[in-house]
This record gives sequence, structure tokens and C-alpha cells, in this order.
Amino acid sequence: MKAMIRRTYGESGVLELSPVEPPRPAAGEVLIEVRAAAVDPGVWIFMTGRPYAVRLATGLRRPRRFGLGLDVAGVVAEVGARVTRLRPGDEVYGTCRTGSFAEFAAARESQLAIKPANLTFAQAAVVPVSGCTALTVVRETGAAPGRRVLITGAGGGVGTFTVQLAKARGATVTGVCSAAKAELVRSLGADDVIDYATAEVDRDGPTYDTVVDLAGSRPLSLLRRAAKPRGTIALVGGGHARGRVMGGFHRQMAAPLISPFMSQTLKGISSFVRVPELDELTRHIENGTLTPVVGATYPLAGTADAFRDHAASRSAGKIAITVP
Ligand SMILES: NC(=O)c1ccc[n+]([C@@H]2O[C@H](COP(=O)([O-])OP(=O)(O)OC[C@H]3O[C@@H](n4cnc5c(N)ncnc54)[C@H](OP(=O)(O)O)[C@@H]3O)[C@@H](O)[C@H]2O)c1
Repeated sequence: MKAMIRRTYGESGVLELSPVEPPRPAAGEVLIEVRAAAVDPGVWIFMTGRPYAVRLATGLRRPRRFGLGLDVAGVVAEVGARVTRLRPGDEVYGTCRTGSFAEFAAARESQLAIKPANLTFAQAAVVPVSGCTALTVVRETGAAPGRRVLITGAGGGVGTFTVQLAKARGATVTGVCSAAKAELVRSLGADDVIDYATAEVDRDGPTYDTVVDLAGSRPLSLLRRAAKPRGTIALVGGGHARGRVMGGFHRQMAAPLISPFMSQTLKGISSFVRVPELDELTRHIENGTLTPVVGATYPLAGTADAFRDHAASRSAGKIAITVP
């Protein structure tokens, strides 16, 4: 099969479209004929090996696995031992183990759900990582009627889902984004938008019950000034380009240690792609309360261009890769 692989860490120039052996599904896994994948900061981190802390898991000097790509949408081609729910021919979405920038990928059954009936494969592929993260955010911060929520990075992959899910729960939402993405963020339901080039997140004072930081680019002191004295600040994004070793993720890790010493609640958000979360996203998508935003679509051979588009933050929402 053909796969977009890399043999060393680096920017998109390390990617090469190569013939490789198709993966074999292990026990509890299925083999997926990939129809679409997606690009996001997580995959960029695995590709570049930056922040360096990630190499403790992926290989210190060079990557242990050459494949890349987490989000996947496709058709089940084969099922491994002890697979009980999925059958060959099922159209699925979720995350995979072996790299979704490829014609075939192996994935755990526990990280796959039946694809929403009203989505294309490209639309479905942008959902799993970002949608499950957004769902975790609105659950853990208690988005609800009467609660005011500020979301930085509202025009990005996780942000476009978080705005819609917070609105679906009845919260009043302010999105922080660039002027180019303001209209989109409003169209997703945001009641107000702050253009970060002309105003700070604390523009209106301590107004918000919840501040969700996806952009990872503003100091904690500023985020705290935007939150009410008993408000919650959810740290999701590290701003992966910041800090060579930890990339800003130390803020999330330190949150539970700092929080007891503050009047506000500080939460570091970690999310997982699992069947119950995917099924809940499917219900939202099929009843029309959630629409994935595909900012751009590239063919598998154009994955390097997709990463350049992502790095420049040109496209709103998330970028899909179509296969073949
Ligand atoms: N904790 C977890 O489990 C988890 C899971 C998934 C993702 N993440 C992290 O969450 C973060 C966001 O992920 P993502 O997929 O949404 O990334 P993304 O698609 O790159 O979106 C980030 C957005 O931030 C915007 N931005 C840049 N500077 C900003 C500022 N000063 N104020 C407001 N917005 C600004 C960017 O676009 P514009 O500049 O054009 O507005 C972009 O739309 C990343 O750091 C990622 O690693 C964490």
C-alpha cells in the first residue's frame, strides 16, 4: 500500500509517499480502508518531535514508527480476533494506531464508532480528536444556560467544536479569534467575538464563568483577569510552538497543583477518543446541533502542503486528507 511516512523528525519536508507493508490488525483491532484523515497540532508534534518531551514516547533520536495520522474515517476491511461490534463493510470514524496517512490503518475497536450517516468521510475524519476534546471541555467546565464562556482559538479545530457544543448546552459564548475567522465563529453560534489583534481577553473585565484556553498563547494572569472570582479556567492547548522541551504543556500539568491556592478553579484538560464520546458526537451531528468545519481538503500526496497550511493557520476548523 502507499503511505505518507517520515524516517526522521522534522517539518513537512521530511514526509515521503512510499510503498509500505499494510498493517495487520491485532486482537481487538480492525483493519480500515482509509478514505480520509486529518491534520492537527497533535500530528504536527509527532512529526516534528517537538516539544522534545514527546520523544520519550515516540523515540529519542528518530521516530520508532514511520507512519503518521491519528484521526481516521473509512471502511472496515478486516476484523482481528476478539472484535465483537464491528464487521467488514462498516463505515467508521475514530483514531488509529498505525497512521491514517495511508491506504490502510489498524485501529482499536474501542476507538471507533459508526460514521454519522449525514457526513462525508472527509467531514467525519476531522471530528474524533477535536470533537472528543471539545466534549470533554464542555463536560468538565459545566457549560449550561446562564453561564458565560470565553473560548480562545475559537476558529481552530477544537474551538469550532467547543463553540457549538457550549451553545448546544445553552451557554452564552464569546469566541476569541483572528478577524478572518470571526464571521465563521459567529455563524457557529458565538454570541460575541473578540479579535485578538485589537483587544485582549480581559477586555470586559472578570465577566466569564469559564475561560477555555485553546490557543495557549496568553499568560495565565490575563486569562484569570477575564474569569469571575469563582470562575473556572480550562487549559487545553499548550501553544505547541512555545518552549522546546514542554511546548507550554507544563501549564496543564501544573494546574491541579496551583488550583488549591486560587479562588478560581484551574483545570488541565486531557481527552481521549472512545466509543461513548464518539457516539455522543454522532447524536449531535445527526440531529444538526454540531457541524464539522473542514477548512481545506488535500489529497494524500499533498499532505506536506496540508501541514504548511496548518502551520500558517490559513484554514479555519480542521484540514482533511483524502485517500486515495
Ligand atoms: N489536552 C488535550 O487533550 C488536547 C487535545 C487536542 C488538542 N489539544 C491542544 O489544543 C490546542 C488547540 O488545538 P486545535 O486543534 O484547535 O489547534 P488549531 O486548529 O491550530 O487552532 C488554534 C487556533 O488558535 C488561533 N489563535 C492563535 N493565536 C491566538 C490568540 N492569541 N488568541 C486566540 N486564538 C488564537 C489560531 O487561528 P487564528 O490565529 O487565525 O485565529 C487557530 O485557529 C493545541 O495546542 C493542541 O495541541 C489538546
